[in-house]
Amino acid sequence: MNTNVKNQNGYLKKLRASFPRLAKRHGTPLFVISRTLLLAQLAKFRKLLPRVEPFYAVKANPNPDVIRTLAAEGCGFDVASVPEIEWVLAAGADPKRVIFANTIKRPEAIKYAIRHRVRLMTFDSEYELNKIARHAPNAQVVVRIKVPNVGSVVELSLKFGAEPADAIPLLLKAKRLGLEPAGISFHVGSQCLQGNNYLDALELTRMILNEAENKGLNLKLVDIGGGFPIRHFDSDPDWFAEIAPALNMELSRLFPDDIRIIAEPGRAIVGPSGFLLMSVIGKSIRNNKHWYYLDDGVYGALSGTVFDHCKYQFATLKQGPTQLTTLAGPTCDSLDIISTAEELPELELGDLVYAQNIGAYSIAHATHFNGIPPAKTIFVP
Ligand SMILES: Cc1ncc(COP(=O)(O)O)c(C=O)c1O
Repeated sequence: MNTNVKNQNGYLKKLRASFPRLAKRHGTPLFVISRTLLLAQLAKFRKLLPRVEPFYAVKANPNPDVIRTLAAEGCGFDVASVPEIEWVLAAGADPKRVIFANTIKRPEAIKYAIRHRVRLMTFDSEYELNKIARHAPNAQVVVRIKVPNVGSVVELSLKFGAEPADAIPLLLKAKRLGLEPAGISFHVGSQCLQGNNYLDALELTRMILNEAENKGLNLKLVDIGGGFPIRHFDSDPDWFAEIAPALNMELSRLFPDDIRIIAEPGRAIVGPSGFLLMSVIGKSIRNNKHWYYLDDGVYGALSGTVFDHCKYQFATLKQGPTQLTTLAGPTCDSLDIISTAEELPELELGDLVYAQNIGAYSIAHATHFNGIPPAKTIFVP
């Protein structure tokens, strides 16, 4: 699809208008993924960062149609487990364009990866390196370094990343173990709203590459991870488009053309393609305020409110004066309150409420709590 805003707005209007029909046909809760918007996001990524090869982070949304669509477009993949490797290879991904980017890998998973020609793997400790050397002696290894995550909505540097000062000793050890030291990776934290995180991380990476050259290591890969932000609300700026020009400048200033640059975007590829349609199944007035109980909640596809620290824009297809409203999910747990401050018109049982830009880190971690299954997913053109 043409990514220009005017067309995209027209497409969105039509898609929203189809929600009542889709809800009637499939029931709710219904998770709708738009192929058009998914492809538009991949095209946007490639346009904003032309030098960077996207390796879609499957964990964001492992829907088979999403994986198949991206594989057909020649997108690479970042996988975290045996099932994710199976899924991307079954969808036709080239193993050379797959990175096993979980720094904590089960031995069986390492063996499985190498048997299926997925050689590129990240690590951030000596223990992981020894494990890789034992189970995948011909692996290509990428050291993940710890970089500043301040200003990102989901920080990852607490759990992951070697100290930058340890990167060279670790890569030298990889070489001694017979592995192929391939490069350096980092993750600035998810939904990174501070472009400087990328710039600082790139500067640090360049310093490590310089030292690597001095030590006789021939590193040819820089993996700039994920973190590329999306707009969750219509009023949000396009942070990604704002960050991209400086990032491109730094990439060309710091890295000659023979250095391959890859990234592991999850949210930026799949986030804007997802919508969650829910019905009002309960209503009450508590402390003078309208409460609506929906048929999905924080134990379902709205789990991103907990695991992803995410806030969503909710809307209805109803018009009329709005009031401050609470939205809650269908389970018996009081944690299952979705939002206490939504401005919505008065709703009745059966009315539709939907969330947008919810394609990433949502249905991927929905549970069966209270016996309530995750929302049905459909893939629309
Ligand atoms: C190793 C790794 N790569 C990539 C991603 C994707 O990040 P994002 O969705 O912010 O682009 C994640 C997210 O947690 C990750 O852990």
